[in-house]
Amino acid sequence: MEKQGRTDLLKDKVVAALFYEASSRTMLSFQSAIQRLGAGAIIAHGKENSSMKKGESIEDTIRMVMGYADCIVMRHPEDGSADRAAAVSSVPFINAGDGGNQHPTQALLDMYTVHKEIGRFEKIHVAFACDPMHSRTIRSLAQVLSQYAGNHFTFISPPSLRMKDDLRSTLLERGVTFDESHDLSAGLNADVLYMNRLQEERFEDRSEFERHRHDFTLRASMLQGKKVIILDPLPRIDEISTDVDALPNAGYFRQARNGVPVRMALLALLLGRA
Ligand code: NCD
Repeated sequence: MEKQGRTDLLKDKVVAALFYEASSRTMLSFQSAIQRLGAGAIIAHGKENSSMKKGESIEDTIRMVMGYADCIVMRHPEDGSADRAAAVSSVPFINAGDGGNQHPTQALLDMYTVHKEIGRFEKIHVAFACDPMHSRTIRSLAQVLSQYAGNHFTFISPPSLRMKDDLRSTLLERGVTFDESHDLSAGLNADVLYMNRLQEERFEDRSEFERHRHDFTLRASMLQGKKVIILDPLPRIDEISTDVDALPNAGYFRQARNGVPVRMALLALLLGRA
């Protein structure tokens, strides 16, 4: 499905986009997808401006919104909020990020990007940096890629930010091979180096964030002669120097653009028009 132009495929539909946590790319690309499909949008920005601030539960919010819209997209700061919402929703529900847990639509656009850049889903070496413990995008993408044969992962982080046990168990159960490193150079010969900022808002101990915030910065000089494709769900903070942007390895802005057609396809599928 093309990103350009508009269709009237969903002209009789209304999509609710509830963003109770900060978002730029996910919110804007969903809004672009909704408009390019000809649907209407109702949008909630931030807990501050909604009844959640008054103490309304996630379940009651969803019970109300499903009477207004044909599909609900929600981002929420709590782990597990998406499951709670989906359990009561009578209309299709899309998780646009639930705390540090999962970000499945990002994983879909990441998979689309991996395929466009590398040409396959199997036998890929993917390195993930810098915060596998808190990054929901690393968690979601590693889970999806672990379903394909022959993939190998390298997780790069300070020792205190290694992946959580639930992801580790999933990878072990699925027989995925992986290694862990404290050195960014461990990712430079991979097929894909997937960077994501330290997730500042998810640190219980602020001093731990301060201690590690400058541990990893990818610079153009490190990529000389390297073929590795650099992806990052963005926002980019300290993890990639801007001198990387001009290199052919830099896939992250192409990746961000892929959010629109992938979210268009998902909405069309869920609303029965794909
Ligand atoms: C990511 C997120 O929200 O988890 N951003 C995004 O959706 N593109 C990554 C991040 O915030 O670091």
